[in-house]
Amino acid sequence: MAIKSRQGSESQILSVGTYRPKRLVPNAEIVDKIESTDEWIQQRTGIATRRFADQNESLLDMACWAAEDALKKAKLTIGDIDTVIVATITFPFQAPSAATALLQRLGNPTAAAFDINAACAGFCYGVSMAHDFVKAGTSKKVLVIGAEKLTDFTNPFDRATAFIFADGAGAVIIGESDEAGIGPVEWGSDAENRDAILMNPAWTDARNYDEQKTLEGIVWPNISQEGQKVFRWAVFSVSKAAQRALDAAGVTVNDLDVFIPHQANLRIIETMAKDMKMPDSVLIADDIRTNGNTSAASIPLAMDALLEKHPEMHGKLALIIGYGAGLVYAGQVVKLPPKP
Ligand SMILES: CC(C)(COP(=O)(O)OP(=O)(O)OC[C@H]1O[C@@H](n2cnc3c(N)ncnc32)[C@H](O)[C@@H]1OP(=O)(O)O)[C@@H](O)C(=O)NCCC(=O)NCCS
Repeated sequence: MAIKSRQGSESQILSVGTYRPKRLVPNAEIVDKIESTDEWIQQRTGIATRRFADQNESLLDMACWAAEDALKKAKLTIGDIDTVIVATITFPFQAPSAATALLQRLGNPTAAAFDINAACAGFCYGVSMAHDFVKAGTSKKVLVIGAEKLTDFTNPFDRATAFIFADGAGAVIIGESDEAGIGPVEWGSDAENRDAILMNPAWTDARNYDEQKTLEGIVWPNISQEGQKVFRWAVFSVSKAAQRALDAAGVTVNDLDVFIPHQANLRIIETMAKDMKMPDSVLIADDIRTNGNTSAASIPLAMDALLEKHPEMHGKLALIIGYGAGLVYAGQVVKLPPKP
């Protein structure tokens, strides 16, 4: 006997919502701990300020507020959502997931819900999965959230990370559409270099015992990175993947209106755009300047900021691409959400 299968439809981004922590932190507040300068940080990364969440802005708080913003803009309620994907590497509970905590808090405790870990590529991994779920008829409306409180896992004295990472949350709702609003994903990894960005030590090694097996203290896991290795990989490999994402969607750089790469480093963003020969007409997101690197949250945060500044870009064609710890990447061409 044949098994019945579901039929889905094309998908599109219906809305984007965000939450940015209230506290804006200038380079001046960071530099003393890492023997750096405002000039060095701006010249190497483009970052002038970033946002750090306080104790009343937990990862879950930020994820919920971003989700509520996205729901409001799409004129939907949490009850309309059948699937929730939270991309994060900083939710402080291994289990249960941030996605179920969010559903419990927002009042729809029956939707499918899970977290994914693809670091700074997590949002684009989530968009790809949501698109596939809608196409296959598995889901009708998917809430995809990138949320990070990286300050919980960053050593403020680490010269390689302290000035880069920041906090925030961004969410999109992906639903059914008559026309394709999300192109095929181009994704992959360079797992040979998975040590280039690490959260260390493992939870199981974090407890420090003395010879009598008494707990002496905790070695808190923090993110470390080999900056130059990551930089080279992003510039050489990820821009090629970005080009393949354009090819897969059947568009060229000349058809694009907007480029929203992961906000890791302004020099990486500019080099990618140059390598891909993007015309000056393409608007390039540069949220990194004011909001730092918020990992899985960076693309929806940058998307929302760009649409606030350029409302004429609602519904236009964008290339999004995320990359980070793993090393992993994912990118696709999308139509930006319609004007709320
Ligand atoms: C982290 C990053 C900004 C460091 O810049 P860099 O040019 O590679 O820096 P290097 O480590 O090679 O060090 C160059 C010099 O700057 C100094 N330096 C390093 N960190 C510094 C800091 N925070 N402040 C001031 N000087 C610093 C070094 O001591 C070195 O000095 P020297 O030339 O006198 O020996 C850069 O590698 C980067 O952005 N990489 C990508 C990382 C990334 O995007 N990660 C997230 C991916 S999701």
